[in-house]
Amino acid sequence: MKIGIIGAGNIGGNLTRRLTALGHEVSVANSRGPETLTALAEETGARPVPVAEAARGAEVVVVAIPLKAVPDLPSGLLDEAAEDVAVIDTGNYYPRPRDGRIAGIEDDGRTESRWTEQHLGHPVIKAFNGTYAQDILDRHRPAGDPDRIALPVAGDDEAAKAKVRALIDELGFDTVDAGGLDDSWRQQPGTPVYGLRAGRDAVTKALAEASPDRPADFRG
Ligand SMILES: NC(=O)c1ccc[n+]([C@@H]2O[C@H](COP(=O)([O-])OP(=O)(O)OC[C@H]3O[C@@H](n4cnc5c(N)ncnc54)[C@H](OP(=O)(O)O)[C@@H]3O)[C@@H](O)[C@H]2O)c1
Repeated sequence: MKIGIIGAGNIGGNLTRRLTALGHEVSVANSRGPETLTALAEETGARPVPVAEAARGAEVVVVAIPLKAVPDLPSGLLDEAAEDVAVIDTGNYYPRPRDGRIAGIEDDGRTESRWTEQHLGHPVIKAFNGTYAQDILDRHRPAGDPDRIALPVAGDDEAAKAKVRALIDELGFDTVDAGGLDDSWRQQPGTPVYGLRAGRDAVTKALAEASPDRPADFRG
């Protein structure tokens, strides 16, 4: 598939590594420009591009940048993506010290991904947000392996969610359907599933045990 990755740090960089290794055609962008991505391009074969071009023709777009940078993304970012593009949001809100207080999340009761989706102007699928970036390289396992871990995936567009779940399976992880985007508080920072390395049953249980109250550590 053609895949655009916006953000080439811990999570975007490792997704670039694995998705190119699986044979996908990856374009990758950061904030400083393609000339700063030559090492990653040489290592992986991904194409470094300006952020405005990252989604061009893409069937999957991954947004892997700090939440506070989402409003800085160019408008019309997804206009030239494939018609049925699935947009993956890996983001987490870390008011202290990274993102600063975002009223649209804390006061308005929106989930973090709903806030991001509204900035992007396109539905998103929340995935990978509670996955350690290094695990993308180290913890993938074939289907059926008893040590295979599961990732929660939330979103409203069922076709896009199915596409993302199939891609995560290809990356070597099981998935659990965590509901629509308004349910995605169940996998935000501070919840039982966040950072949990476990199989489907334990992930399903952890999602069910989440509290809707934002933990104090994750308030600005
Ligand atoms: N680290 C993890 O293990 C992990 C796991 C799951 C989810 N997450 C979440 O995923 C998101 C990214 O985390 P990370 O750890 O990968 O961050 P990171 O290592 O700090 O990398 C951030 C990347 O975003 C790019 N970026 C920043 N502003 C941008 C903009 N306006 N346009 C285009 N690119 C921009 C940066 O480019 P420059 O370097 O050029 O500025 C950098 O490549 C966060 O919300 C984080 O909470 C992280």
